[in-house]
Amino acid sequence: MNTERLTPDTIRARKNPTEAIVCLTAYTAPMAALLDPHCDLLLVGDSLAMVLYGHSDTTQIDLDTMIRHGRAVVNASSRACIVVDMPYGTYENSPEQALTNAHRIMDETGCSAVKLEGGVDMAPAIKAIVDAGIPLMAHIGLQPQSSVKEGGFKVKGRTDESVQKLLADAKAVEEAGAFSVVIEGTVEHVSRLMTESINIPTIGIGASPACDGQILVTDDMLGLTPRQPKFVKKFTNLQPLVGKAIEEYANDVRTRRFPGEEQLYK
Ligand code: KIV
Repeated sequence: MNTERLTPDTIRARKNPTEAIVCLTAYTAPMAALLDPHCDLLLVGDSLAMVLYGHSDTTQIDLDTMIRHGRAVVNASSRACIVVDMPYGTYENSPEQALTNAHRIMDETGCSAVKLEGGVDMAPAIKAIVDAGIPLMAHIGLQPQSSVKEGGFKVKGRTDESVQKLLADAKAVEEAGAFSVVIEGTVEHVSRLMTESINIPTIGIGASPACDGQILVTDDMLGLTPRQPKFVKKFTNLQPLVGKAIEEYANDVRTRRFPGEEQLYK
C-alpha cells in the first residue's frame, strides 16, 4: 500500500480530473484515522466551532484551539493532504498578521497547508503566505466567517454583480498563488464558469458537481448533527444509532446488567 502523504502540489495537479477530488472535514484523531484511507484531503475546518463547541457561527474559535485539533488530525493520518483553517481574526488585519499566524499553524501542527476565506480582498495576504513557501487553499463564494455580518448563510451568484465578483475572486486567489479553492454556496452554471476560468482545482460545497472536487462537513453527512442544509446528503444517520446505544447503556447500568461477566478482571 502506498502510504505517502498527498501534497498540495499533487492536489493542484488534479485539475479537470476524471475522478473528482475527495475531501471531508476532520477535527479529531479517531475520525481522522477513519477518513484518511478514503480521502485525498482532510480539512480541519473552523466549522468545528459549531459542530464540536456548540457556537452559533464559526467566528468564535481561536488559533490555539485550531492548532490543537490540527495536531490531532495530522497525528492520526498518513495519506491525506491536511489543511488547517485560519480562524476569524487571525489574518484579516494585514499580510504580516496572516503570515505570522500561518507560520504558527504550519510549525505547531505539521499540516500540509492553511486555508482562509476571501478573494480579491485577501489576495495580498494569500500572496504573502504563498511567497513565504506555505501552501494555501482559498475559500470563496459563501464565506461562513462573514455570515454574521451578512445576516445568515446566503447563496451567491444569483445576480450579474455577484457572478462578476465570484469570477474576480476566483482569478485573484489563483493569481495570488493558492493551490486550490473551496467554492461554497453557488448555483451550478456559476460554479462551472468559475471552474473553467481558473487552472487550480475548485472544491465545491453546495456548489454542484461542476467543481473538480467535493467537500462536506463529516458530521453532517454521517447524520451526527441535527442541521440539514439542502446541499448535504446524509450517507448514514448515526444520531438515532448513538441515541439507542446510550439508552441501552443507561438501562444496563441502572439495572446492574453492566458491567457483566465478560468485562470483569479475573
Ligand atoms: O470550516 C469548514 O468546515 C469549511 C468547509 C465547510 C469547507 O470551511
